[in-house]
Amino acid sequence: MNDFEPKKVRTSTLAQFKNDGRKFSCLTSYDNLTAGIFDEAGIEVILVGDSAADNALGYDTTLPITVAEIIPFGRAVAKAAKRALVVVDMPFGSYEAGAETALANAIEIMKATGASSVKIEGGQRSAKQISALTEAGIPVMGHIGFTPQSIHSLGGAKVQGRGEDAERLIAEALAVQEAGAYAVVLELVPRELAAELTKRLTIPTIGIGAGNATDGQILVWTDFAGLYPGKPRKFVKQYLSLRADLLKAATQYRTEVASGEFPSAENSHD
Ligand code: KIV
Repeated sequence: MNDFEPKKVRTSTLAQFKNDGRKFSCLTSYDNLTAGIFDEAGIEVILVGDSAADNALGYDTTLPITVAEIIPFGRAVAKAAKRALVVVDMPFGSYEAGAETALANAIEIMKATGASSVKIEGGQRSAKQISALTEAGIPVMGHIGFTPQSIHSLGGAKVQGRGEDAERLIAEALAVQEAGAYAVVLELVPRELAAELTKRLTIPTIGIGAGNATDGQILVWTDFAGLYPGKPRKFVKQYLSLRADLLKAATQYRTEVASGEFPSAENSHD
């Protein structure tokens, strides 16, 4: 294994990682401070996911977020990332109409955020858009399996590619690769199928709920940090209990303000 430490992670770095059998990590971020921390930790890819819709903007799904809404998140993250590759999601409605619309919106996102890449959901149905963007010099990350923007047609957040459906997913993965994507996210895919796709594809695979055989892993940062409320999904590992810690701290702060304990003399100016 080659354990070189790239000064700047580029799409070619991820290809080299795959070539060397070295795994890489990705986290989402929607703000300057967490992006700076993840960058400092050496996380190779920071995704400004359209999961900003439910994580930062309070929408119920990822569908409502717009290009105009995702741009400030992308700009804040790109400014913080000195080393990580920054990828911005193309929101629902910004690419489905065709290659021309997709290209115009991707150019706007790239110019306004300073990110290095965009991500597009969908296999064959998005192949033309992926080709148009890569031909224009915009690196594209694909995303197949459970694609949250299609939650209504997929009937919920369900594992994709089980049994006979595996062939469909293999065709989708190949379409994304042939269209020119430099990597592909596999979301909610059985681990054996994800392992097979990782072997068959020449581009890196990035798993979320897809087992440990993929070239990279991605988690939504609020899941990873235990900030998102409710029971975590099966594939999530919470590395922190941020929600519980913040709740405890905010409750203590309120109590101390009420009692006059805060601010103390130490926290006051003479
Ligand atoms: O928007 C997002 O957070 C994503 C990840 C789930 C891959 O697309």
